[in-house]
Amino acid sequence: MLTLIKNIKELVQVESGQHKLRAQGKEMAQMETIKNAYLIVEDDKIKDFGTMETESGKRKAESEADIVVDATGRMVFPTFCDSHTHLVYANSRELEFVDKIRGLSYEEIAKRGGGILNSAKATAAASEDELYELAQQRLDEAMRLGTGAIEIKSGYGLSTESELKLLRVIRRLRENSPLTIRSNFLGAHGIPMEYRGHQEDYVDLVINEMLPRVAAEGLADFIDVFCDQGFFTVDDTARILEAGIKYGLRPKIHANEMAISGGVQVGVKYNAISVDHLEQMGDAEIECLKGSDTMPTILPGCAFFLNLPLSPARRMIEAGLPVAMASDYNPGTSPSCNMQLVLSMACIRYRLTPEEALNATTLNTAYAMGVSDQLGTIAVGKRANFFITKPISSLEYMPYSFGENKVELVFLNGKRK
Ligand code: NIG
Ligand code: FE
Repeated sequence: MLTLIKNIKELVQVESGQHKLRAQGKEMAQMETIKNAYLIVEDDKIKDFGTMETESGKRKAESEADIVVDATGRMVFPTFCDSHTHLVYANSRELEFVDKIRGLSYEEIAKRGGGILNSAKATAAASEDELYELAQQRLDEAMRLGTGAIEIKSGYGLSTESELKLLRVIRRLRENSPLTIRSNFLGAHGIPMEYRGHQEDYVDLVINEMLPRVAAEGLADFIDVFCDQGFFTVDDTARILEAGIKYGLRPKIHANEMAISGGVQVGVKYNAISVDHLEQMGDAEIECLKGSDTMPTILPGCAFFLNLPLSPARRMIEAGLPVAMASDYNPGTSPSCNMQLVLSMACIRYRLTPEEALNATTLNTAYAMGVSDQLGTIAVGKRANFFITKPISSLEYMPYSFGENKVELVFLNGKRK
């Protein structure tokens, strides 16, 4: 099956040379594009692309294809990769949203049993089918906004049965959705009330009861811990990550949202694929990430929603580090899966250039979920996940025009959705 997209105003983020697994430091500002381009897809893969301005390009753009799409006036981008979400949950939490406006902090709400525990209670009461339906609708919304790959965490279970239920929902989504999905076991997301004051017993439960069952059913790719002040300690985190690694799960953790907590260091020590949040970063944290295989991942939606300090993205890029940006889609701190908005916030709030912001939300997030060999750019042999925009004026218009859906058509695995 051949699909031809022709007359593309600009084909963005192509890799004609060697494929990179991530972009770091100055590389983040590099972005290859082709004006007046064609793109050829064979089955689920990108077969060829180029300019329509040469004779051979013109011929290719007129070649026989089963499906031809004329993209005149429109641009083509690789789909976003959203490497950090908590998409499976039962209820929204707008009452806590109002509590926060009235002055309560996220940690104060958590201490009195709200926050993650509020979601865990509702999620425990919901059936697997109900959770699946809700998650399916959210996934569909993410896709309409241009997301083609997504990481999904458990973490609103906080009991063995409930965590397994969430992970099974993620498995079903993975089996039935055209999006590329990776699953992350976040049993250590919150400390249930009955374990307050002796949270090491909950850590034991995660390690000795939950993990073996998660691994036996092959339900997760990654292991996560909310390593932060008021949540899990560095020691708790180290124990859980070590146990997860024994079961073949690579760490991918929450770190440094509330405080400089040692989360970045423990993540790097255990070769986490990413450390996420990073609102609180000192020089030591930046130093420690240098030379590592760990992707620093910023979650602009969460900092926006909670009015947190901004992670020092520019300082990290200037230090030669890569930076990824994901949605953190969840009911408590970032109730939006809109990666176009993340792209805009990357520029507006973190002062990334549009090119850097694109690398942060595609290639680098693909790396942060272990799929950048197949996704994150337009490259021959990569999976054909891309979107065609509405008629727009330029690449820069994508982050500039925040709040508007600029995506007209989404192609996943070579098929129009
Ligand atoms: O990534 N920080 C920890 N976990 C989520 C929030 C979860 C919630 O409040 O429900 C986050 O922001
Ligand atoms: Fe999160």
